[in-house]
Amino acid sequence: MSVLERMAAILPDTAGVNAKGHLALGGCDVVKLAAEFGTPLYIFDEATLRRSCYDFRKEFGRRYPDILVIYAAKAFINRPLAKIINEEGLGLDMVSGGELSIAKSADFPMDKVYFHGNNKLREEIEMAIAWGIGRIVVDSLYELSLLNEVAKKAGVSQDILLRLNPGIDAHTHQYITTGIIDSKFGLPIAAGQAEEAVVKAMSASNLRLIGLHVHLGSLIFSIEPYQKAIEIVFQFAAEMKKKHRFTFHEFSPGGGFAIQYTQDTPAPNVAYYAKAITDTIHSRSKELGLKLPRLIVEPGRAIVGRAGVAIYRAGAIKEIPGVRKYVAIDGGMADNIRPALYGSRYEAIVANKANKKEFERVSIVGKFCESSDILVKDEDIPRVFPGDIIAIPVSGAYCLSMASNYNASLKSAIVLAKDGRARLIRRRESYDDLMRCDVG
Ligand code: LLP
Repeated sequence: MSVLERMAAILPDTAGVNAKGHLALGGCDVVKLAAEFGTPLYIFDEATLRRSCYDFRKEFGRRYPDILVIYAAKAFINRPLAKIINEEGLGLDMVSGGELSIAKSADFPMDKVYFHGNNKLREEIEMAIAWGIGRIVVDSLYELSLLNEVAKKAGVSQDILLRLNPGIDAHTHQYITTGIIDSKFGLPIAAGQAEEAVVKAMSASNLRLIGLHVHLGSLIFSIEPYQKAIEIVFQFAAEMKKKHRFTFHEFSPGGGFAIQYTQDTPAPNVAYYAKAITDTIHSRSKELGLKLPRLIVEPGRAIVGRAGVAIYRAGAIKEIPGVRKYVAIDGGMADNIRPALYGSRYEAIVANKANKKEFERVSIVGKFCESSDILVKDEDIPRVFPGDIIAIPVSGAYCLSMASNYNASLKSAIVLAKDGRARLIRRRESYDDLMRCDVG
């Protein structure tokens, strides 16, 4: 079986092997791109990126009358990507002044931006309001007062959603679960704070309560948590309608849609989530006599994850007889902290030996001063020598956005590949960049 056949599910749509036996993405020879732009290099396949955006709009849109897909920028954002997201008709879920600034500088339509976060700073709220942000998703009673105060000062009436904590376990890694009762996120329904927030928001002078939001966690493989959350939130909305005349215009079940990282961990497709979510909303709304609210979905990982492939060059190779063979690459935990942080698993391809069929078992490790700096454990790949090019698929989400300058390393360059052409969308950092903020 060829590497393409084996790995089709975790490679970008346009992946191929060219006549030289090299991995190709977006019609570009990966080995050539590595030589031209240097490594580590992140390659985004533009076709996969745009197709993922389209999939969400299509699959939710054909099952529900009023939807907005907003891309959760924390998965990765920069100016060129914000422009593509806008071209594809998505909005943005943003969580900081930094992310908002990127959107602003890409001329992103601010009315399609939702501002999230459990501790938004006064300056960030002021900035968001001054720029005409679409919605602010309020996370606490403290924020509600602060926001009303800032909106009043600015003389605006701000549309808001309340982020609720439904008390649901999404059965994902404990670091990325957010909907359980013991969480720093959201207003707990069970503890009564959600109702208190509804009452407070409805009587606030400069806020307009538009709807309710939940986000259960990330990398959620099953639909049950979404279904349960919808049951709970819609029940709550009906109660609030009865008790306080609350009207439910917008609802968001958040993001968290899983994607496949390795051959042995398939993930559901977008249609599967879309069907379960929209079916449950339709039936609950009907039962409870609620008008269908507008549906907002917030995928992050599922938009950019599979479009991105990380490219490295192999250096030191160390065989410890009877124990393990280590292949060290020129990147690692500074550009991809996920294995060290969550135990995340990846697979690898030797991009300049994509047709080779004899394999040996190795572990691929980074160049950083930590023993946890292991990107791929026990992978069967063709025999690697120093200088070979290693590609790690499904690197588009939460690698670059969580990257650091650990060991004073330089953040990677990023290119966008399409139809045989690669466009640099972020240059590699330089040593000067590292010292740019030093004073004295
Ligand atoms: N909406 C909210 C309110 C969120 O907090 C998140 C992610 C999303 C949407 C998007 O979730 P996604 O569709 O990407 O799963 N660093 C971790 C993931 C953290 C997710 C944080 N919140 C990782 O690398 O796995």
